[in-house]
Amino acid sequence: MFIFTKKNMLKNITFSMIKPDGVENGQIGSIISKIDSAGFNIIALKMTQLSRKRAESFYSIHRQRPFFQDLINFITRGPIVAMVLEKVDAVNDFRTLIGSTDPNEAADGTIRKLYATSKGENVIHGSDSDENAQIECFFHFSNCELFNEK
Ligand code: RTP
Ligand code: MG
Repeated sequence: MFIFTKKNMLKNITFSMIKPDGVENGQIGSIISKIDSAGFNIIALKMTQLSRKRAESFYSIHRQRPFFQDLINFITRGPIVAMVLEKVDAVNDFRTLIGSTDPNEAADGTIRKLYATSKGENVIHGSDSDENAQIECFFHFSNCELFNEK
């Protein structure tokens, strides 16, 4: 039996969301199938929609970038599917599975190469470090949802 602890949260978990373009284009099932086939366990999952305030907080690191308003408009325009995924070396392996930010530069077989249409609208997010994975998991999910606390 797999028991996950706060130690595993740091080492073996990443956060992902299927972005509004992936949901609009009916790609939830195909994308989850790719994630499943790559050996990730889905620890938590929900469809939700980000308010502008929460989106600006989630992507606050990009606040000064020229694409920031386009990014907020995009990520808030419809539902997203938020997921916590578990696997050994989850953060790095998931970044490999989704591919480069720009689908034109993404490797063959990656989720962005298969489904994304542009650098801005690239169907899926993946945490870029263990530290951010933990922050992002707790941004979207409560202790109760993550640890099955009664
Ligand atoms: P993410 O955080 O969503 O997993 O994507 P990432 O690490 O591959 O890329 P990042 O640099 O963190 O950018 C966050 C998201 O902002 C949008 N973006 N648009 N038009 C542009 O030049 C541009 N650059 C970034 C994308 O949606 C990107 O995933
Ligand atoms: Mg990023």
